Amino acid sequence: MSLHGVITGWGKYLPQRVLTNQDLERIVNTSDEWILTRTGIRERRIVGDDESVSTMAVEAGRRALEVAHLSPGSLDLIIVATLSPDKLIVASASLVQDAIGAKKAAAFDVVAGCSGFIYALATAYQFIASGAYRNILVVGSEAVTRYINWEDRGTCVIFGDGAGAVVVQANEQATDMLHFLMGSDGSMARALYVPSPCDKLTEMPQDGHLHLLMEGREVFKFAVTTMAEASRQVVKEVGLQLSDIDLFIPHQANDRIIQAAAKSLGIPREKVYINVDRYGNLSAASPPVALCEAVEEGRIKEDDLVLLVAFGAGFSWAAMLLRWSPGLA
Ligand code: UT7
Repeated sequence: MSLHGVITGWGKYLPQRVLTNQDLERIVNTSDEWILTRTGIRERRIVGDDESVSTMAVEAGRRALEVAHLSPGSLDLIIVATLSPDKLIVASASLVQDAIGAKKAAAFDVVAGCSGFIYALATAYQFIASGAYRNILVVGSEAVTRYINWEDRGTCVIFGDGAGAVVVQANEQATDMLHFLMGSDGSMARALYVPSPCDKLTEMPQDGHLHLLMEGREVFKFAVTTMAEASRQVVKEVGLQLSDIDLFIPHQANDRIIQAAAKSLGIPREKVYINVDRYGNLSAASPPVALCEAVEEGRIKEDDLVLLVAFGAGFSWAAMLLRWSPGLA
């Protein structure tokens, strides 16, 4: 008997603290006008002092389990996609597993830049198709602002914190996941990274600070081209047309990147989901938060064709086509 994965639950968590562009004007040499015209971002959320990737993942995960009507004890696996784990040693997924009481679940993290959630979701579908597991919680959770150098105006205005989660469950009929692709170009690792205390000593930053470092223009160029190419490819390989897509959910990195990718694909504005104005770039949490909000807002209906696409550090990229069918399981 073959098993098929389907998303049956979704949830999100955004920290309470809001940092507006006006707040940033008081921290660094920037302006609301610059941030808005160059990125489309108005405000972002900042992780609380008593919060972390695992606590936010727990909140989002609990909500996703409620929607799926699934108890934590029924979970076989928890995957957390993150760039900002609570600890370097210990998967944040293990902390989530303990906190929600998922006694029989295995747990691991996925590190694949802002593409991490789609990588993790693709992995979940494979575990179900192989027959290994039936109930999987997939989370994207980020506290990237903890890495931010608040004197670097090229990075501090872009990022925000939060978490999104989905439950993927097995059924005997069909899957909602039509196709996916993932890619990597490690030669571009230096364009966007956070140093680690475990790196070669010669690679350690002179000032000893472990801040996020980014070549914004390099990332921008890569983002537009890659999101468009990956979207075209994943749709073509499954024999569909870009015009078949009901909702396009691109990684929410920068409104200019989103608009350029959508234009190149010929996807009209009303079919593009955008929340970058409210949250900034949520890294690996961006796709699940956007997916969850789109469902909650009624932007996705049963049987809709949804295209998720992301890019990020690595460089990495990933795209996935879903035929939205939570009722299947
Ligand atoms: O998930 C992936 C994560 N990363 C990304 O997606 C980032 C992709 N890149 C971007 O979104 C854009 O490159 C940025 C928003 C980071 C920067 O926008 P840009 O239009 O590429 O600006 P730029 O770096 O070319 O800088 C233009 C000017 C520079 O001044 P000069 O040299 O022309 O005098 C910058 O110093 O804007 C200046 N600038 C700022 N000014 C006010 C850079 N950041 C700021 C700022 N406020 N926050």
